Amino acid sequence: MAEVLVESHNLVKIYRSHDLEVVALQGLDLRVPQGEMLALVGPSGAGKSTLLNILGGLDDPSAGRCEVAGVDLTHLSRRERLLYRRRIVGHVWQQTSRNLLSDLTLLDNVMTPMLLAGYPAGKRRARATELLRLVGLGDRLDHKPERLSGGEQQRGALAVALANEPPLLLADEPTGELDSATAAEALSLLRSLNAELGLTTIVVTHDPHVAEAMDRSVAIRDGRTSTEVVHDEAAEETVIIDGVGRLQIPRPALDAINFGGRARVHLAGDHVELWPANTFNERAAETRGTSGTSEQRRN
Ligand SMILES: Nc1ncnc2c1ncn2[C@@H]1O[C@H](COP(=O)(O)OP(=O)(O)O)[C@@H](O)[C@H]1O
Ligand SMILES: [Mg+2]
Repeated sequence: MAEVLVESHNLVKIYRSHDLEVVALQGLDLRVPQGEMLALVGPSGAGKSTLLNILGGLDDPSAGRCEVAGVDLTHLSRRERLLYRRRIVGHVWQQTSRNLLSDLTLLDNVMTPMLLAGYPAGKRRARATELLRLVGLGDRLDHKPERLSGGEQQRGALAVALANEPPLLLADEPTGELDSATAAEALSLLRSLNAELGLTTIVVTHDPHVAEAMDRSVAIRDGRTSTEVVHDEAAEETVIIDGVGRLQIPRPALDAINFGGRARVHLAGDHVELWPANTFNERAAETRGTSGTSEQRRN
């Protein structure tokens, strides 16, 4: 079993502004083993970017635990936060323009994080050149971003994000502004970087193709993890049960069954049935082909 790189438990994020409170994450549990490629999916407003910003050290959790590469993100001094952002995470944003400094060449863009992190000059140039070659831009070192296509800019962004050899790469809709062919290219690049560098990657996406290209997709709903699909041959969706036993009933089931806000949990040997609380007695009896008396007597 691979080591766990990211672990959050009961993570809460509350945004407060004036008299308004938004609970963006409400007790989120997540474990990401080292080397995994994980997709975060889910409806808009579910808390995906909030989670990514916390993992990226850009935002503070309000409560709960969150550790990345052994760093506790709930208690960071300014200095520790700076080092965390420099060394532990690389970030790629959806807006291609946010990823690269427009006045600098690609080579300088990739060398800048290394300069800030104190890499010696010789190593900076060598590593930047190597990274740009790795992302297929070896012949564009002296180009400024404006001379590159959208796909090239995102590949350049990847090289910048990886400059300081972070163990964790975070990408928020990295292919959102790319056409599908270019997006597919970016994905296979991510995959080969993962294989080559052992990089752990978390990608927020609402593109099913992107999600399927990852090892696992975790859906976030209302600030919690709700379901996941492991993209092996079976690729079956499962519901996530957190450390204290909470789960989110998938939306289609919620729409199909009128629970009325309550369920009866019936332990049935090796599985559990969830019944709308008000119909459990008669319906459970019917299914079992009994008169229902034994069930009713028990309740
Ligand atoms: N800086 C902020 N201030 C106040 N509310 C925010 C802020 N950022 C996000 N939110 C709110 O938190 C919730 C989750 O947002 P977000 O993480 O951006 O969702 P997603 O990325 O899944 O679309 C939303 O209700 C959003 O409006
Ligand atoms: Mg978002």
